[in-house]
Amino acid sequence: MKTITIAKPDDLHLHVRNGAVLKTVIPHTARQFARAIIMPNLKPPVTTVAQALIYRQEILAAVPDELDFTPLMTLYLTGSTTVDDIKHAAKSEHIHAFKLYPAGATTNSDSGVADIKAIYPLLAAMEQQDIPLLIHGEVTDDACDIFDRERVFIDTYLTDITDNFPGLRIVVEHVTTAEAVQFVLASGPGIAATITPQHLLFNRNALLAGGIKPHYYCLPIIKREFHRLALVKAATSGNPKFFLGTDSAPHLTSLKEAACGCAGCYSAHAALELYAEVFERAGALDKLEAFSSFYGADFYRLPRNSGTVTLEKTAWKVPSAYGESDLSITPLKANEELTWKLV
Ligand code: DOR
Ligand code: ZN
Repeated sequence: MKTITIAKPDDLHLHVRNGAVLKTVIPHTARQFARAIIMPNLKPPVTTVAQALIYRQEILAAVPDELDFTPLMTLYLTGSTTVDDIKHAAKSEHIHAFKLYPAGATTNSDSGVADIKAIYPLLAAMEQQDIPLLIHGEVTDDACDIFDRERVFIDTYLTDITDNFPGLRIVVEHVTTAEAVQFVLASGPGIAATITPQHLLFNRNALLAGGIKPHYYCLPIIKREFHRLALVKAATSGNPKFFLGTDSAPHLTSLKEAACGCAGCYSAHAALELYAEVFERAGALDKLEAFSSFYGADFYRLPRNSGTVTLEKTAWKVPSAYGESDLSITPLKANEELTWKLV
């Protein structure tokens, strides 16, 4: 039997929600990852250290006793965040970054930042306090084609941010285009990117050809094959600027299979297995460990994890859903076969 054993990985971009959904999803992440950067886009958003600490306790309480998992908290930037909030957060051992959602860009981003230039004093404070900025890089302009929103964000905002704050560590979250890969490659060592399994595995045909498939709908939207190939090349290149961040984003099946379905792919049930499939197909299984277990930790200046996880080349079928029937969540590749299995 073919197996691979790698150092215990981290998920550097994860949504776990709260309440009943949290209880369903957290065991999936905790069985494969030692730590995860937790997104703050709850309703209402997590904007203060005090809220993040309460949320952290709620997450820890949902982790099964036999598993060891550490949530790494982030705060949600709004138009009312202050320089003092940044200083306060930077002092907390549990707060690892601030997340910038352009207002209206995605799920629960209504309280996000409407005027990006207006928060430059906050970015200066983050640079000075050396706390990373995580960016959902899409413009929200209705006139901008949804497939162009990441590229236009880079040209309109990101280049200006990196020019003005050269010392600010930035993660361009869930990159989806060749242009974003190129931007990260051309930027200094403080600029990195996460890449999701869905953007590595699928192009937009998976979402739109032969009928609309809502479980492939996420933001930024999956793009053309040309872009997928650029992402695979970046992820499997061994460049430390690119690391694992699933953006696993659970929504109830009923809210995705709807006339106006929510954005987000649920991938925590099989995250590492999905990435292994990508790396194997690219002939780069030897690069999976650093992408999954080293580069993210190094970027966040966290110690690399001790312990290992092992994957086996065994086919298994992904269930049609997880959770109680009225709270069911449909996973990525539901009812399909995966080729790698976490032991
Ligand atoms: O598809 C997405 N879902 N993209 C995001 O940026 C947010 C996420 C969510 O929270 O559901
Ligand atoms: Zn996300």
